[in-house]
Amino acid sequence: MVDSGWKLAYEGFEPAQEGHREALCTLGNGYFATRGAAEEVEADDVHYPGTYLAGGYNRLQTDIAGRVIENEDLVNLPNWLPLTFRPEDGDWFNLRRIEILAYRLELDLERGLLERRMRVRDAQGRETSLVSRRLVHMGLPHLAALEVTLCPENWSGRIVVRTALDGRVINAGVERYRQLNNKHLTALESRTLGEDAILLVVETNQSRLRIAEAARTRVLQGGEPLAATRSALEEEGFVAQDLTFAATKGQPVTLEKVVALFTSRDRAISEPLDAATSAIGEAGSFDELLGSHVRAWRALWDRCDVVIEGHARTQMILRLHIFHLLQTASLHTVDCDAGIPARGLHGEAYRGHIFWDELFIFPFLNFRLPEITRALLLYRYRRLPDARRLARQAACRGAMYPWQSGSSGREESQVLHLNPRSGRWTPDSTHLQRHVSAAIGYNVWRYWQTTGDREFLSFYGAEMLVEIARFWASVASYNEELGRYEIRGVMGPDEFHDRYPWREEPGLDNNGYTNLMAAWVLLRAAETLDYLGGERRRELDVLLGLQAEEIAHWQNVSRGMRVDFLDDGIIAQFEGYDCLEELDWDAYREKYGDIHRLDRILEAEGDTVNRYKVSKQADVLMLFYLFSFEELRELMNSLGYPLEPDTVRKTIDYYVPRTSDGSTLSRVVHSWVEARSDRPRSWSLLAEALESDIADIQGGTTAEGIHLGAMAGTVDLIQRGQTALEFRDDTIWISPCLPTELQGLHLKLLYRGCWLYLDISCDKLTVSAPYGWAGPGRIGVRNQVRPFKAGDVLEFSCHLAAGGWRPAPRAPTHAPADSAGADGAPAQHNPGDAAP
Ligand code: BGC
Repeated sequence: MVDSGWKLAYEGFEPAQEGHREALCTLGNGYFATRGAAEEVEADDVHYPGTYLAGGYNRLQTDIAGRVIENEDLVNLPNWLPLTFRPEDGDWFNLRRIEILAYRLELDLERGLLERRMRVRDAQGRETSLVSRRLVHMGLPHLAALEVTLCPENWSGRIVVRTALDGRVINAGVERYRQLNNKHLTALESRTLGEDAILLVVETNQSRLRIAEAARTRVLQGGEPLAATRSALEEEGFVAQDLTFAATKGQPVTLEKVVALFTSRDRAISEPLDAATSAIGEAGSFDELLGSHVRAWRALWDRCDVVIEGHARTQMILRLHIFHLLQTASLHTVDCDAGIPARGLHGEAYRGHIFWDELFIFPFLNFRLPEITRALLLYRYRRLPDARRLARQAACRGAMYPWQSGSSGREESQVLHLNPRSGRWTPDSTHLQRHVSAAIGYNVWRYWQTTGDREFLSFYGAEMLVEIARFWASVASYNEELGRYEIRGVMGPDEFHDRYPWREEPGLDNNGYTNLMAAWVLLRAAETLDYLGGERRRELDVLLGLQAEEIAHWQNVSRGMRVDFLDDGIIAQFEGYDCLEELDWDAYREKYGDIHRLDRILEAEGDTVNRYKVSKQADVLMLFYLFSFEELRELMNSLGYPLEPDTVRKTIDYYVPRTSDGSTLSRVVHSWVEARSDRPRSWSLLAEALESDIADIQGGTTAEGIHLGAMAGTVDLIQRGQTALEFRDDTIWISPCLPTELQGLHLKLLYRGCWLYLDISCDKLTVSAPYGWAGPGRIGVRNQVRPFKAGDVLEFSCHLAAGGWRPAPRAPTHAPADSAGADGAPAQHNPGDAAP
């Protein structure tokens, strides 16, 4: 099924696999994306063509379970793919009603090209071969193109080709949402223009986003236009042209469809239809477009590729992950005021909403295309007013970002959730995951550390950090008895626990992850203000009404935050966690096989997962994922709590077996935290995380959209996890620990505007910065520390002990990048480094 290196290929048409393949074969450019559905199909039980625009949302209300609920969806836009044929006296081409002699679907990651090759025989014995090629242009974000070459192998006769734009589509990609209203588009205009163009205009019925598509279809033989008669079909929301021509046995005919998509939110246009019409008028041929498209991808790959030796399948999957990340967020997203949807622009799961998954996605972008991270952070900045409103509504100060974000930045989390196992709608409390605000603060800080983008920090980041800090300071209440600050009524990342089994109202108290993240953000906000100092500090004081007492209060809250512990110094997931029951995991495994979604299983049994020490995903362990041991120890110490090196191991050993990995993010975190102490386990978890989408390990979820957090997280696990790369103490620390399965790793990273090249083989690490270097002036590899400057090519010999490298003991470390980034040395992840 999988070719090595650059190609994802499938042999044979498998209806049951089609949804999965469509998601994985999605083509996009960060402005819009289209699932890899076949050109000749409409949505049905097998196929689901879908086209989504970055930031293209609409809201609809539905009467459900006795209440009116409103959901905002990433809208399925008019399908631009339709291009099909029939012999003049025969049926329209349909893979399910024809004999398939050969079939291959291939996604070329290097060129961003989807190709389908088929040979079919109809009931009359007519054999036809077809090759279709498709691109969504990475350089010209409004353009897509399709080419179908068909050859009557053993017959001659007249052929009718239909090319269409179909705006009658609805959002029906996720079965469990089908009871909800799903018709988002109103048809405005459908017509032909001139000889070869068709035009369609629709508008979303609530957000009033106007979308225009124009298509130009040509018929060619031997590179020359072939005479065809054309007839038009214009219906509400649908426009097509039928092209009829004579075809001769053995002589291929090429159909070329070039499509432009514009919306009323685009910049530098007068009006979408006008822009789309001009674009198809000016666009070159398919081959010309392919040429410029491939050049755009080449530039991206040059920046973003991660080359590994020794594991062909892993190599291909890593590229597949990078590919989909870049198709969801690219430089074209920068102008879109869009966030990065957790499920890509690849399907309708989670309605295209934006969660905390950015936390897993930004590290890759920070080190490759920080301009994209900046734009995605600005999406959050623009939604500060709504976050402030949400905080006010919760009787808090500052900014409380929504758990699920869409168009305006209001809370988009659903209020009811359908358990497909029981068929029951249950209340959804996931919006209580207030930790999303801390994740946004964390992302601002890491972006700043990696890029040194002082202007961003000064104008945008500081305001976000201050407002998020304010929120935490106001949501934390003082417990006189304990002399500690507490955060009550929230949910941690583990979505299985939304309330205590002994309490009616939702929410948990003192989630360890949330409390520590809150304390960390409070410290960083104060640090940022100190760092900015001078004029900007004074400006911010005035603009945000900051007083010295408020900042002093932040210090009190951050130092006095409560954290609960289990035995052995293990951070408790939340207060009262120790009172929960243990689950008989073996019994459930035996009974159900797949127990990733124990929440649904238990609810269907009339029980609740809230009763048990069972987590959907990493919660406490997120702390070891996001912070180096030194950072976390410093944070805990500032709160007056110890963190001993052996506590890391104990905490991992406690929580991992109590986690069902019901989220694909979980394995990424677990692999990361194991990276220093149990490398075989870390690698096997990484190997599982790599399979999340390509093998659809959650059984059917990939068809509804890829899992972008896990995709980007796995690349970061290679990029930083396996290299143990950190910028700290004016030193680039590298301590590669490649799994024995990998023989080499080659990548480059952008740090504060300069590229750092890393070439790692079994016994040698080479580091260079051929085009300039403005980062740390030293490199530390295990216990060798050497000066480093632009032009240097430093080689370190490393011995590969049986089972791989063991990281050397570390010199004592300092605080994370201090305020001024004075030494230009931010602290990066280095999970469990101090673990035995
Ligand atoms: C996970 C969340 C995640 C969301 C979107 C859920 O299943 O529990 O942590 O943000 O999916 O990816």
